[in-house]
Amino acid sequence: MPPSRGTCERVGMMSDFERAAQAVREDRLWQRHMDMAKLGGTPRGGVNRQALSAEDAAARNLLMSWAAARGFSVFTDVIGNLFVRREGSDAGAKPILSGSHMDSQPTGGRFDGMYGVLAAFEALEALEDAGVRTKRPVEAVAWTNEEGSRFQPGAMGSAVFAGHNALDAMLAVKDWKGVVLRDALAETLAAAPAPRRGDTPGFALDGYVEAHIEQGPRLEDARTTIGVVTGIQGSRRFMVEILGDEAHAGTTPRAARKDAFVAAVAIAGAMQDATRDADDTLRFTIGRVDVLPGSPNTVPGRVSFTIDMRHPSMEVLEAHETKLRAIVASKAAPCTATIERLTSVAPTVFDPGVIGLVRDAAQRQGFSNMDMPSGAGHDAMHIAALCPAGMVFVPCERGVSHNEIENATPSDLAAGTRVLVEALVRLANR
Ligand code: GLV
Ligand code: MN
Ligand code: MN
Repeated sequence: MPPSRGTCERVGMMSDFERAAQAVREDRLWQRHMDMAKLGGTPRGGVNRQALSAEDAAARNLLMSWAAARGFSVFTDVIGNLFVRREGSDAGAKPILSGSHMDSQPTGGRFDGMYGVLAAFEALEALEDAGVRTKRPVEAVAWTNEEGSRFQPGAMGSAVFAGHNALDAMLAVKDWKGVVLRDALAETLAAAPAPRRGDTPGFALDGYVEAHIEQGPRLEDARTTIGVVTGIQGSRRFMVEILGDEAHAGTTPRAARKDAFVAAVAIAGAMQDATRDADDTLRFTIGRVDVLPGSPNTVPGRVSFTIDMRHPSMEVLEAHETKLRAIVASKAAPCTATIERLTSVAPTVFDPGVIGLVRDAAQRQGFSNMDMPSGAGHDAMHIAALCPAGMVFVPCERGVSHNEIENATPSDLAAGTRVLVEALVRLANR
């Protein structure tokens, strides 16, 4: 049936960002998530797609095949960040960038990171379908190694892009099995080749907006569709190493042992107590413990464990780092122990202009929305230092993330993408 005259007039009067937002296709976006979820899919319905693995390469190839089908160009940079570009009318203008990451936790979900990449790609497709020509180019990006579960630190690709981490130091990082990142990157790019743009990290940007699932329960609890993200809390990561003496488990009296695991338990317990705050704001996690030599009948001679600590205030993080250092010094005996700070990322405050664009887009499109800070870290925390930046959150089921059962609804994912598209078009046409 031909559209009524009234509809035609309304369509004719629609602005570019309205037409592009309406061109977002919920079914296509959902199907792309399901296709990506097969790459590294786990029996419990999640994904294990660790950075620079064969599964990561497969995801890169799939994204590049979709880009080729739409005539978008692709390229990588020196740390393997993967970009998909849709030209603007001013080819020399700095691009507007949107994206997130395709690597996952070892027992990760289908949406953490991947949503931001696919929402950005859907934005490019919606622009194409709506025939909207933006002034500036719009690019989708998949940042390398955001999770940091295989190679530390996380958010590595965006940190190198922003000049916050040195490229050479990151290329030399080893994973838990001793594989050097430089080699894993070369293997990944050989398996998923893309033209290289530039020999140094980073290029000029005019704006950045990242979509992500919330990874917490606030939106769902408030029955709200869109989180207008105002900033990201600060974080610090540490490695603690305890040295004792290996000894025979059957013959060595307890009093004569230097059991590194016993010292680790004392240190970890004291740290848990010292990092409890009245309003439950400080986040403290020991996420990985290695006990060596890892034999049931040898007293452990060496233990290492990671610490992830987060808070919106840098001063609070500083004060608690002092406490952690004092605990390591006082609780290790008769073993010896060290604590090394691996990363420190200051709290991020997003650009008021981008926050306003996201909020206006949600309101204009009739989506319930609320301002909120992010508890999780995101690549946007590095890119915010380069250009006006912001984020869009959508709810995830019961707030569960970093878990194979992580879930989100097709309509919420599409709603966040529609808000994203509007913000991107308005930035690209400024
Ligand atoms: C990202 O996964 C984070 O650790 O916040
Ligand atoms: Mn993520
Ligand atoms: Mn994550």
